[in-house]
Amino acid sequence: MRHLPSPVSAGWRARLAALAAAFAMGVSPAVAAAPDPVAGHDGMVVSAQHLASEVGADILRRGGNAVDAAVAVGYALAVVYPQAGNIGGGGFMTLRLADGRTTFLDFREKAPLAATATMYQDAEGRVIPGLSTDSWKAVGVPGTVLGLETARAKYGTMSREALMAPAIRLAREGFVLGQGDAGVWALEHDGVARDPGMARIFLPQGRPLTKGDRLVQADLARTLALISAKGPDAMYRGPIGAEIAEASRAGGGLITPQDFAAYKVRELKPIECDYRGYHVVSAPPPSSGGVAICEALNILSGYDLAAMGFHSADEVHVLVEALRRVYVDRNNKLGDPDFVANPVAQLLDPAYAARLRAGIDMAHATPSSTLGPPSMAHEGHNTTQYDVLDAQGNAVSVTYTLNDWFGAHRVAGRTGIVMNNEMDDFTSKVGAPNMFGLVQGEANAIAPGKTPLSSMSPTIVTRDGKVALIIGSPGGSRIITITLEAILNMIDHGMNVQEAIDAPRVHAQWLPDVIYVEPYALSSDTRRLLEARGHVLKDSGHWGIAEGIVTGAPRLQDRGEEAGRVLSVSGPPLAGATMFGGHDSRQPGGSAEPVR
Ligand code: GLY
Repeated sequence: MRHLPSPVSAGWRARLAALAAAFAMGVSPAVAAAPDPVAGHDGMVVSAQHLASEVGADILRRGGNAVDAAVAVGYALAVVYPQAGNIGGGGFMTLRLADGRTTFLDFREKAPLAATATMYQDAEGRVIPGLSTDSWKAVGVPGTVLGLETARAKYGTMSREALMAPAIRLAREGFVLGQGDAGVWALEHDGVARDPGMARIFLPQGRPLTKGDRLVQADLARTLALISAKGPDAMYRGPIGAEIAEASRAGGGLITPQDFAAYKVRELKPIECDYRGYHVVSAPPPSSGGVAICEALNILSGYDLAAMGFHSADEVHVLVEALRRVYVDRNNKLGDPDFVANPVAQLLDPAYAARLRAGIDMAHATPSSTLGPPSMAHEGHNTTQYDVLDAQGNAVSVTYTLNDWFGAHRVAGRTGIVMNNEMDDFTSKVGAPNMFGLVQGEANAIAPGKTPLSSMSPTIVTRDGKVALIIGSPGGSRIITITLEAILNMIDHGMNVQEAIDAPRVHAQWLPDVIYVEPYALSSDTRRLLEARGHVLKDSGHWGIAEGIVTGAPRLQDRGEEAGRVLSVSGPPLAGATMFGGHDSRQPGGSAEPVR
């Protein structure tokens, strides 16, 4: 095991030398197959739907700051990306302001006041399949509207009306679906068809909308216009909340107007840690994301990943061994900070990381069953991430969600609001084996007014006191490894932001005791080396839709170059560019929109 004395490793120095030689010879350096990152001068917005990215970039052009743009994108995604963008769900916003302050807004859903620890169990204590995912009982009290308004009022500069106008227009006039929008709509047809409110909006002709169809959401336009005019009280103390509560009651759910009145956004201190000279700012509990990412980085800081090489057997081995230890803590020790004493300081103590590292055997995989009481968390994978950076240096990273695509597949009355199924992120039954023979943890048990544990990890990385990277992704429990791998790909392997996001992924989370492998993530001989150490590999389709922005140069290591000398990966110098956006090539509907 080698300990690195400096943020620039031997492996990276070799790569830098190769890049310099390639540039000197007038040829493009060897790069992963990925499009060039999008270059901007005065701002950048990256999201999973290009119309929402354009809304955000337009707000920046009109003089709004990054928080203004983030609020406008949040509302716009609720219209043009209704499978995950939302006002019927919740999420997290990590902020790093131009003056250097960092903060975090938690507007995640909360359990209704009538919720109980056993609400998804029958009289015999068996978990009732589908109740926590596909019913009105699956719906948590939504936080997005109050979260976006809190961000705007505290850190934005523009009026709510100005920031909501683009979303209202997109809902009222409709928008035409592109190829990238259409895929998920076909997949979700059955769930959408089951709820008459969903079907009226999303199956207007009795079939899934497809490329070229226009989606008009008149009910949602009315709801957004009411929020724009009256503020969040229209939802939390007024007719919108009342209509949701009535739909919930009629559907057998628990949400009441009192739940809306009791809902509060929390402003929390982000999780922060250092890694090879970079400073990471990420999501604190009720997210597990920041703790898990920082705990993993602390362990991995003891290995020369650059010298090992991207997805070499050695790198994947230490990554997986670190992750299986991190997810033991993630699944057993973390929960809503108003209900659980999260041992964050202990988990992020470098001495703790050193102890965990000492237990890693380079030659053998550690059986997960030896690491702690068995426990497994299920989480919906279908969330969305967006990032905004403005010319002043304000950086915003948002992950928000309905949990599954289209959440609970229920629209509340004539509000046009798609409701979440976030209650499924709680532990449905504590202390008894689930269908996999696994016992689940107490820290994430259901309680009235409690927020379920999340993996959402909106993250900002700084270097020398300046924003270097904004990053995050959907993906349920895989959000942690998607975000972590993107950071490692840039810091340790020198990839540019687009390459880092597009690079094939691996994922491990302690239980099940396997390594999930994206197509082309591992070569055959690497697989053999890992299997010889005792790892079990499981091939999987693509996952995650990461969004990233870097500053200064497409590669973190080139920051500090004169702006005019920054080279594109394959083309001419990017004169004057100061920031670079990358949207995940796995999801063609999104975009990085620059302000130039
Ligand atoms: N529902 C996904 C998450 O919160 O991690």
